[in-house]
Amino acid sequence: MLAAATATLDRNWRDGYTLPSPNLYPFQWNWDAGFIALGLAHVRPERAISELRSVFRGQWRNGMVPHIVFHRPADNYFPGPDVWGTDQVASRPAGVRTSGITQPPVFAFIVERISSLPLGRTAEWEAFRREIFPSLVAQHRHLYRNRDPLGEGLVYIQHNWEAGTDNSPVYDAALEAIDLTHARDVSSLRRDNRTVAAAHRPTDVNYRRYLALVDLFDACGYRDAEIAARSPFLIQDVLFNSVLARSNLALLSLARELNADAATVGEIERWYEKTSAAINEKFWDAERGFYFPYDLRAGRRIAIKTASGFMPLFARVCDAAQQRALAHHLTSSFAPSAAWLLCPSVAPDEPTFDPVRYWRGPVWVNVNWMLHHGLRQAGLNDLAERVRSDTLRVLGAAGRWEYFDPRPGIDPSALGLGTDEFSWSAALALDFQCNPAAF
Ligand code: GLC
Repeated sequence: MLAAATATLDRNWRDGYTLPSPNLYPFQWNWDAGFIALGLAHVRPERAISELRSVFRGQWRNGMVPHIVFHRPADNYFPGPDVWGTDQVASRPAGVRTSGITQPPVFAFIVERISSLPLGRTAEWEAFRREIFPSLVAQHRHLYRNRDPLGEGLVYIQHNWEAGTDNSPVYDAALEAIDLTHARDVSSLRRDNRTVAAAHRPTDVNYRRYLALVDLFDACGYRDAEIAARSPFLIQDVLFNSVLARSNLALLSLARELNADAATVGEIERWYEKTSAAINEKFWDAERGFYFPYDLRAGRRIAIKTASGFMPLFARVCDAAQQRALAHHLTSSFAPSAAWLLCPSVAPDEPTFDPVRYWRGPVWVNVNWMLHHGLRQAGLNDLAERVRSDTLRVLGAAGRWEYFDPRPGIDPSALGLGTDEFSWSAALALDFQCNPAAF
């Protein structure tokens, strides 16, 4: 398993950074780079810093870290750099092309986790922590300044591609509200559904909506205030804000360890407190005992149970009663029997559950890694161990696929979906296997 995971990372390495998958995602992706750097820190420590530096080379001058950095051209992906229209944006970085949206801010907690490994005890890593700290603060500041129009401590995402959980059914209603009268048909431009089975990927009409949003952002010159005023898609996402809260906690420790100035430490403290409280105020549904995202444009909670609803455990914001309620969901609606693989991305009792389509049911390794650590923090050790062993078992039997069918009764070697040789599946298998420490 260790050799196979290392081989996947080696295969996808491109002289400074790692592709999530050469055939499906031929550039560097934002949160992928964070998880990949953690895996590299175990087996190719000399590459971990380079992975992180490469993704931050794409950081915009306003602090935004884009979801794709197009270091080198590739023609097997749509939408590529020409489609985004970011070349004219004033705050784009010099020397590299990027997309114009972001992804969940994992980097601060990734830096914390790497700091506990042998690489973390080197002088090179210590220097790197100092180097990256201002970029991390700028990334978080950008989110609070530009994505929290009501000053609630919750940031919104502009696009389902910002969520990381791209094709989750929680975005359906907002996407369906997009007026497609003038939207272009992009079905013939897609590459993803030729590379992997179309049944595992989003539909054509949804792709048309995704591109309609990109065209709107381009028309707004990527100015957040204008996008907030005009876009039909403004969603406060549970996973995104939980990742932000956990990264605030990591950033706060880092700020104190580096003796950052009092004003910066105070700013990070306020971010952490405000976001943690707001997750419980706005996302928690006491009646259902679960966390749901909020559609800021429609003014309502989106009551579909997805694995993102467990991420407040990872952010460490749940009280004992909330922890119990979440554990109950994990072993009932998310696993109708003990033979189901944890954790389906959508609860199997939801009408939108689809066991093979991306983010509508299959299991993802990065979500399981955050879930495992969240459960452990809550003292739910048996469940945490079940998530870890389920993940390692399916990775061992099927290989390092992008996602996995959670249903029982299927030959384990046939559960892999999407693309194979997927980098973060390999990287997090390494952390699951080689670093038993809680986090
Ligand atoms: C898919 C995932 C997204 C990931 C990207 C690259 O689009 O939904 O989270 O970052 O692939 O691996």
